[in-house]
Amino acid sequence: MQEVSKSTINILAIESSCDDTAAAILQNGKILCNLVASQKIHEKWGGVVPELASRAHQQNIIPVVDAAIKQSGIDKKEISAIAFTTSPGLIGSLIVGTSFAKSLALGLNIPIIEVNHMQAHILSHFIDEPFPKFPFMCLTVSGGHTSITKMNNYFDFEVIGKTTDDAAGEAFDKAAKILDLPYPGGPLIDEYAKNGNPKAFQFPTPNVPNLDFSFSGLKTAYLYFVRDKIIDDEHFIKNNLNDICASIQFSIIQHLMKKLIKASEETGIKEIAIAGGVSANTGLRKAIETEGQLRNWKTYIPKFEYCTDNAAMIAITGYHKFLAQDFADQSVSPSAR
Ligand code: KG4
Ligand code: ZN
Repeated sequence: MQEVSKSTINILAIESSCDDTAAAILQNGKILCNLVASQKIHEKWGGVVPELASRAHQQNIIPVVDAAIKQSGIDKKEISAIAFTTSPGLIGSLIVGTSFAKSLALGLNIPIIEVNHMQAHILSHFIDEPFPKFPFMCLTVSGGHTSITKMNNYFDFEVIGKTTDDAAGEAFDKAAKILDLPYPGGPLIDEYAKNGNPKAFQFPTPNVPNLDFSFSGLKTAYLYFVRDKIIDDEHFIKNNLNDICASIQFSIIQHLMKKLIKASEETGIKEIAIAGGVSANTGLRKAIETEGQLRNWKTYIPKFEYCTDNAAMIAITGYHKFLAQDFADQSVSPSAR
């Protein structure tokens, strides 16, 4: 067992907003353990089935939290507070994490900290140095959200652009479905795109004002494009998969980058971060680096394990809330939005 002084802050963090049951232990700002149990059950349904997700969280949550505590080497009596996601997400999934966290905290007689999942994606940049300097801008791209946020401080932020319809991750996943690829298709499109020509096929640039995004037109364009091509050649997808994926990926990245560049020009901010599941995309990571060099940006690209849903990001957010003594009471309840 580790030596724990009175000033040691140990945060147990729990993330259960969608289809990953995750737990992490953080000690004084450093992650000791970060575990995730991904739910394979949704693959055959082509998307996350909320009822199945809640049931799987129910099964996974105790083993995952137990393993995280054991692997971190601390005793559960040394946990200072429990941080957990209360929004946004699937309500049934959030209820499992929230109920478990509240009960455990009550049993251990320790405070609870509520965490917003999207804020946590952004604050994942404070897990490992170098940390972004405030004010910085973050392009957050996940399966349910796409936004540009100006971060003035840990908890003082402004959303200066957001999607008016689908999220970037949804565009990847829906494109993959059109190509008959399994769910979640984003990482597969990324894989095939590595060997394809991004200029092989052209898709329209979404026309949306200000710093906002729109992906629904692109999704329809992919659908009609594939439908028309397979009329002439039923093997079109199979024979051109790399080029199709590279071109689809290129169209999504172009739209994201155009708005991010505009946001940097309008605000004068050159500290630029990306976060969320889609920030794992190879093409987007490269585009940020290339534009960054060109425009003198200081860029922050998360480690792969902190891109998709994880509890380490909940832990670091919980830690900063702990330092600010921002605790929730036992009546806190989750919300889908
Ligand atoms: O942040 P996340 O794990 O969950 C949400 O909060 O939604 O993001 C999941 C999304 C999915 O749409 C998935 O297809 C996408 O992130 N994604 C990717 C890649 N890895 C995950 N999209 C493109 N390329 C990737 N490498
Ligand atoms: Zn997420």
